[in-house]
Amino acid sequence: MNEIRPIPGSTAASPALVDPFGRSISYLRVSVTDRCDFRCVYCMSEHMTFLPKPDLLTLEELDRLCTAFVSRGVEKLRITGGEPLVRRDIMTLFRSLSRHLDSGTLKELTVTTNGSQLTRFARELASYGVKRINVSLDTLDPEKFKALTRWGDLSKVLAGIDAAQEAGIHIKINAVALKDDNEHEIASLMEWAHGRGMDLALIEVMPLGDVGTERVDQYLPLSLVRARLAEKYTLEDIDFRTGGPARYVSVQETGGKLGFITPLTHNFCEGCNRVRLTCTGTLYMCLGQEDAADLRGPMRASASNDLLYTAMDEAIARKPKGHDFVIDRRTKQPAVGRHMSLTGG
Ligand code: GTP
Ligand code: 5AD
Ligand code: SF4
Repeated sequence: MNEIRPIPGSTAASPALVDPFGRSISYLRVSVTDRCDFRCVYCMSEHMTFLPKPDLLTLEELDRLCTAFVSRGVEKLRITGGEPLVRRDIMTLFRSLSRHLDSGTLKELTVTTNGSQLTRFARELASYGVKRINVSLDTLDPEKFKALTRWGDLSKVLAGIDAAQEAGIHIKINAVALKDDNEHEIASLMEWAHGRGMDLALIEVMPLGDVGTERVDQYLPLSLVRARLAEKYTLEDIDFRTGGPARYVSVQETGGKLGFITPLTHNFCEGCNRVRLTCTGTLYMCLGQEDAADLRGPMRASASNDLLYTAMDEAIARKPKGHDFVIDRRTKQPAVGRHMSLTGG
């Protein structure tokens, strides 16, 4: 059963969101567009069909939904995509959400980006209270970068990273560990990131959506990556937590932090604190399951939030225990049909 726990300082009408397994929902990931200026080989197929633009929530509606979650106990908001910074006027959303940082109800407003637009937006993001961001970057080899992202330009991303650091934003690099493609570059990627004062998180590829390639040909278990790194570096498990799924080690030789996101080799669902909202107002309670709840209808049905809160409660009451990701030669179907770009991970 759903346990009702009032948020300190809030009214009884706005209890915190707690799922049937006792997990409090404190982290909302919001995909503001499913579009992207890249076509990463593990995320999208070459020819994608995107949502019709009229189906998108307006930025005001996204703000209203985010605010409803904040008033129900969400303390961390991550704006994702697709590529969130390609959505028109997206800075308006950051600006308006920053009021929740100012009031102290929100602890962190952040973004996961491919970095292509950061030269344009880094300073503005910093001015709206964005203190650390995650930039997806799987290789430092320009040719390989082009091959992996199909459309990306490494030099633009590197310039974006420079701009963000100049604006005082702390960066974590996200790299999906890919068999053959970047597996022999992981140590140098780490040295580079740590040398620039950035953390690095490695991610196991997840079977979401048809990308036109066998997942088993992409999948590289991080247990193997860690064992290889441990031959060369001294890795020490640390308690550092961001509220996300990564588990960190400190690397003695570089002085930096290295995170492992291991949905396949070590499931972390028991500590799940997050749900994800799409740009059409659909709430996915788990990245690895199809079940979803419509929040757009209840939001639009009334100017008050009563119907919306009821829909949120019903959704959280259905949050599943976890995902059932499998990557092997026998499993041909992705765990879920939708692509990662719909929910932004
Ligand atoms: P931090 O705040 O820095 O911890 O970020 P984060 O790891 O929460 O967010 P980010 O957008 O950088 O996501 C990194 C990877 O973690 C992406 O591949 C996400 O898909 C994956 N991820 C985030 N949450 C979950 C989750 O609940 N389940 C699974 N399986 N993967 C997740
Ligand atoms: N498996 C794992 N990570 C993925 N990402 C995109 N698609 C996948 C996938 N199939 C990563 C991106 C980005 C983050 C939001 O999710 O590289 O860092
Ligand atoms: Fe775009 Fe990110 Fe997907 Fe790459 S992983 S195609 S950058 S949404």
